[in-house]
Amino acid sequence: MTTANTTDARPENPVPGLTAVVTGASSGIGRATAQRLVADGWQVLAVARREERLAELAAETGCQVMAVDITDQDSVDALAERAQELFGPTLNAIVHVAGGALGVEPVAEADVEKWQAMYERNVLGTLRVTRALLPAVRRSGRGDVLLVTSVAAHEAYPGGSGYNAAKAGEHMLARTLRLELNGEKVRVIEIAPGMVRTEEFSLVRLGDQGAADAVYDGVEQPLTAEDCADVISYALGAPHHVNLDLVTVRPLAQAAAHRVARHQGV
Ligand SMILES: NC(=O)c1ccc[n+]([C@@H]2O[C@H](COP(=O)([O-])OP(=O)(O)OC[C@H]3O[C@@H](n4cnc5c(N)ncnc54)[C@H](OP(=O)(O)O)[C@@H]3O)[C@@H](O)[C@H]2O)c1
Repeated sequence: MTTANTTDARPENPVPGLTAVVTGASSGIGRATAQRLVADGWQVLAVARREERLAELAAETGCQVMAVDITDQDSVDALAERAQELFGPTLNAIVHVAGGALGVEPVAEADVEKWQAMYERNVLGTLRVTRALLPAVRRSGRGDVLLVTSVAAHEAYPGGSGYNAAKAGEHMLARTLRLELNGEKVRVIEIAPGMVRTEEFSLVRLGDQGAADAVYDGVEQPLTAEDCADVISYALGAPHHVNLDLVTVRPLAQAAAHRVARHQGV
């Protein structure tokens, strides 16, 4: 009788020395992810557009930072050069967190410019960064492309607007890429969060602090950015033959994108 092969059990700490680029690192989930990966032992290059926020993150964690606009090809090309200067010809992980929603107008009243901006930010930005960094990830022998999409990629809801469409597009990018990389040492991991209370997501979407706060009214413990960073840390740190290819993570109070338990007077 053969005994079970235990040599591939979860190592104590597989991470030190691994390298990652994290987008959307100036706030919310991306910032918490960069902090968490540094604490786990990753070498991190954290990017977003706002330099002063990145400088704070660098001072706090010691990670590398760079101002990058993922909707601008020259900016993304410069990111690839910087990653190569810092980490050499290989990169272990691209962590795509940059993205977001604009507006809640119904389809009948949709604002085409907002839809275009959401497609640029969530789909084409993710594509540009993937295309620029994927060769280094493929060379690494332990590669990951992790995308933070949303439950909005999987469930329509009234007012989901172009965010449903854009996140569904990003989800399809992940699925296509996974098929194309099959047989290589690159996992494609999609994390699809439900309601996460971050400082800016609803503010950027709705443009008004009162309306943004009302999104979370009466909801017991929406997810935090740190909750999402935990899941991302686990997925990236898992033995490399284990691919959490799609993880949906919601607060207990949320049963579906549009089904959230709210307590009166909280
Ligand atoms: N919060 C939620 O409820 C929730 C739920 C599911 C999924 N998500 C997804 O999770 C991701 C992070 O959300 P969050 O709540 O952390 O939102 P957030 O705090 O608004 O963060 C968005 C990040 O994306 C960056 N970004 C936006 N446009 C960019 C561009 N053109 N180039 C480079 N960076 C850009 C922003 O930085 P700069 O402005 O400095 O560039 C910021 O760091 C998004 O993809 C979002 O769609 C959020």
